[in-house]
Amino acid sequence: MKITELLTLLVLAGAVLLLSACGQSDAPAAAAPAAAQAPAADGIKAVSLTADDTMKFNVTEIRAQAGEKVRVTFKNVGRMPKQAMGHNWVLLVPMADHEVLALAQAAAARAPQYLPADAAKILAHTKLLGPNESDTVEFTAPATPGEYPFVCTFPGHAALMKGRLIVAPKS
Ligand code: CO
Repeated sequence: MKITELLTLLVLAGAVLLLSACGQSDAPAAAAPAAAQAPAADGIKAVSLTADDTMKFNVTEIRAQAGEKVRVTFKNVGRMPKQAMGHNWVLLVPMADHEVLALAQAAAARAPQYLPADAAKILAHTKLLGPNESDTVEFTAPATPGEYPFVCTFPGHAALMKGRLIVAPKS
């Protein structure tokens, strides 16, 4: 085999590896486009979130500074009826993953909005959205740096529809 043929093969093998890596649906790194989190002209950090019938948030990591004002606009871009595939966005106080799941499971019994019973655990939330519906919510990022989980509390969604707000110290 000539060296040029070998190089061609190596390039092809690399392309195949790259393609298969892109095809992995469980890669969380693919889900946080910086463009979705551009600061708005009015100084409020604007975050565009979407979710569709695949039960996933397009953004799973939101970053803010302590005390920063944040505006989250969440749109359900799916097609399935709200009763079968509704979505909300619920930002919670810091807690472990299993606690988020337990809280969401309890909330799943609380139709029609499915919000957790303990309001003190909720920092911000949108309405439950059907297809093509959107809701905007503004909140102030907590003063305490850390990780704040967010979930969709529609029954059965929390295991897949989750992410975190990462609050950095004010610079
Ligand atoms: Co959902």
